[in-house]
Amino acid sequence: MQYGYFDDNAREYVITRPDTPYPWINYLGSEDFYGLFSNTSGGYCFYRDARLLRLTRYRYNNVPTDAGGRYFYIRDGGDVWTPSWMPMKSTLDRYECRHGMGYSRISSARKGLAFSQTSFVPLKDNCEIHKIVLTNESKTDKDVELFSFIEFCLWNANDDMTNFQRNFSIGEVEVEANGARIYHKTEYRERRNHYALWAVNVPVAGFDTDRQTFLGLYNGFDHPDTVFAGKANNSVASGWAPIGSHHIKARLKPGESKALVFVLGYCENPDDKKWEKPGVINKAPANALLDKYGSPEAADKALAALKDYWDALLGRFSVDAEDKRMARMAGVWNQYQCMVTFNMSRSASYFESGIGRGMGFRDSNQDLLGFVHLVPERARARILDIAATQFPDGSAYHQYQPLTKRGNNEVGSGFNDDPLWLICGVAAYIKETGDFGILDEKVPFDNKEELAESLFVHLKRSFDYTVKHTGPHGLPLIGRADWNDCLNLNCFSKTPGESFQTTANFESGVAESVLIAAIFVFTGPDYVEICRRTKREEEAAYAAKAIAAMTETIKQHGWDGNWFLRAYDAYGHKIGSHECEDGQIFIESNGFAVMAEIGLDDGRAKKALDSVKDKLDTKYGIVLQQPAYKEYHLELGEVSSYPPGYKENGGIFCHNNPWVTIAETKLGRGTRAFETYTKICPAYREDDSDLRRLEPYVYAQMVAGKDAPRFGEAKNSWLTGTAAWTFVSISQYILGVRPVFDGLLIDPCIPSSMKSFSVIRHFQNAVYRITVDNSAGVEKGVKSLTLDGKPLNGAVLLALGDGKTHEVKVVMG
Ligand code: BGC
Ligand code: NOJ
Repeated sequence: MQYGYFDDNAREYVITRPDTPYPWINYLGSEDFYGLFSNTSGGYCFYRDARLLRLTRYRYNNVPTDAGGRYFYIRDGGDVWTPSWMPMKSTLDRYECRHGMGYSRISSARKGLAFSQTSFVPLKDNCEIHKIVLTNESKTDKDVELFSFIEFCLWNANDDMTNFQRNFSIGEVEVEANGARIYHKTEYRERRNHYALWAVNVPVAGFDTDRQTFLGLYNGFDHPDTVFAGKANNSVASGWAPIGSHHIKARLKPGESKALVFVLGYCENPDDKKWEKPGVINKAPANALLDKYGSPEAADKALAALKDYWDALLGRFSVDAEDKRMARMAGVWNQYQCMVTFNMSRSASYFESGIGRGMGFRDSNQDLLGFVHLVPERARARILDIAATQFPDGSAYHQYQPLTKRGNNEVGSGFNDDPLWLICGVAAYIKETGDFGILDEKVPFDNKEELAESLFVHLKRSFDYTVKHTGPHGLPLIGRADWNDCLNLNCFSKTPGESFQTTANFESGVAESVLIAAIFVFTGPDYVEICRRTKREEEAAYAAKAIAAMTETIKQHGWDGNWFLRAYDAYGHKIGSHECEDGQIFIESNGFAVMAEIGLDDGRAKKALDSVKDKLDTKYGIVLQQPAYKEYHLELGEVSSYPPGYKENGGIFCHNNPWVTIAETKLGRGTRAFETYTKICPAYREDDSDLRRLEPYVYAQMVAGKDAPRFGEAKNSWLTGTAAWTFVSISQYILGVRPVFDGLLIDPCIPSSMKSFSVIRHFQNAVYRITVDNSAGVEKGVKSLTLDGKPLNGAVLLALGDGKTHEVKVVMG
């Protein structure tokens, strides 16, 4: 069943009933201030760091689910209801939620009163705006009352959920304009220089800031005493749980509308300007926000500016094709998700609590592949931040904190794939921008200025780290884990609850990863090319030799006969071999080895992908390995901890499906490549939402595999490397518009049934309108290519950089 539809012209997903199989969310915000916003107005917001500077409270894993958000209660005569359906689950005569690019709009109606809520974070300012419009659609006058409701978080989301002996005594607010302006100032009296603002642009009849007074101690959000009583209490919170609620009264004639603007903002003062007078906070930053956004017209203007921003951004890569599902995913939603992963890394979603992980070294480098064409300057800055957390020996902090940009000591280093992703990210950036100058930037090691070296030296250390850390077969040592965080071959954990990722009870110096070897062979040639183009011939020759040697090693020690092995454990036993009882074949090493073109010359590549299809493919995508581990293996770690079919133990881990897609294009098998693309693509499962459960407009990290009772059910939407890699697979390898060091290579690999498509691609200050004609019905091969009507030799469009639009006609055959 479907719960909505794509409105492609508006770039919106329209949810048509509120009781979706899981909350379907959107992200508000593009730079520093962010909100998570569900289709029933659930969620929360924060400034820059979801853990440390959270403005509103959210209880994960709550009952009922998704309770808490920015709520509006309506009292229409005696009729009390919530227009976003939750929290009262009110019967609505009409309901719709449109999730657009950086904004959402909920529209509903009941008994002749229509409501709409447009929520977004304006460009450049640190606040959420909620524009509310009430319309009397009945034939008689209406006296309507609106109560707003948010619950403040005491900033540090972790303490907020745990440290009640302190928290219940520290909550403080200030109230102005008879309650129209509510300020949450907990801890402002001491070390904080920021407060939160919750304000409305019209006079209010009353307010509340104390949760218990507003709701009643034994009530949920679905039964606020105050709303049912129809009168605010003007409560001023002192400790316990500060909230913000406005009580607004409006008389509406038939046909009349009233628009209100609510601002939920983060305000910061310099330390010496914190106070207006003793005990009274300096309202200057709050006033500035309200002066700017305090009218419906101003809110509309800010929303229009936000839409322009997204139009310009997504205009950089768009697709037109008969297959609308592919076109809208590749052209709009996949890129949108890439921007969200760029902004959030793996911190805050409905599956990531915002208090756990920082920015991942490998994750951020891979995310970059999906947004570098949209915001290259920000990709550049991100690369320099990431590289600064690298250690002088080339290894890296596995994570760093977004606020401090410092490596995270709790997790430390030792994930031996990490260094190579830096080469991958930097190469993608240079191919996109032509900016070789980034290589000369001085970047600290371990965040220590005195250890700064050029970014090129960072790349060399990354490359050398792999060369120098090999095991008995000459394959790279795995360390704590490689891309698969759950392949913990040196962990040997027997202690319940112990972290598989950070515990190493056994320093084997033996466990090796075929995947890291394949990543090395895939990304190494970019390093060689970077060396050549910056006249480092000797280094280029050395690196090329190391890559050739690694390729040989993989062929000798990383091949199982019909597919590539996955690893060797701490005893030197094979993982991912037909000799194993479980875990005989893994997706990652096979996808990556063929991406790296290993075995294209001798039939191994084809064999490996055929084995993947034969043994790992399902109707919802390719599972991570088979057979799934039936029991816990001390020597394998977390991978064997999951019940069969979930997560890394045989789940459809979507992140590495596109590796197989790309690999298939290397074999020229366009039909199969596209099939692997569509199987995990959410838009193709829109009408299967009762099973898939998650948003049909974004990828999920995992879909339960065939061994799981809930085969086909998705989990962990939004913050996943799947976004970047599927975008790479569809845009660069299937549609085949691929940045290379010389320009833009046109190399489609599509199903023979796809007879044409077109792409508009901005690239280095020029626009290319590319139309591809496949009336020949082939899967790969460019027969002819013209640029502005003139035939080109080869298939690379040189970067023209002339600010003009160019017509590119491609004929396959
Ligand atoms: C998950 C992995 C994840 C890791 C992060 C594990 O429990 O299975 O997918 O990358 O945690 O630390
Ligand atoms: C999620 C992590 O964020 C990512 O770094 C890892 O590669 C995958 N899980 C696989 O374990």
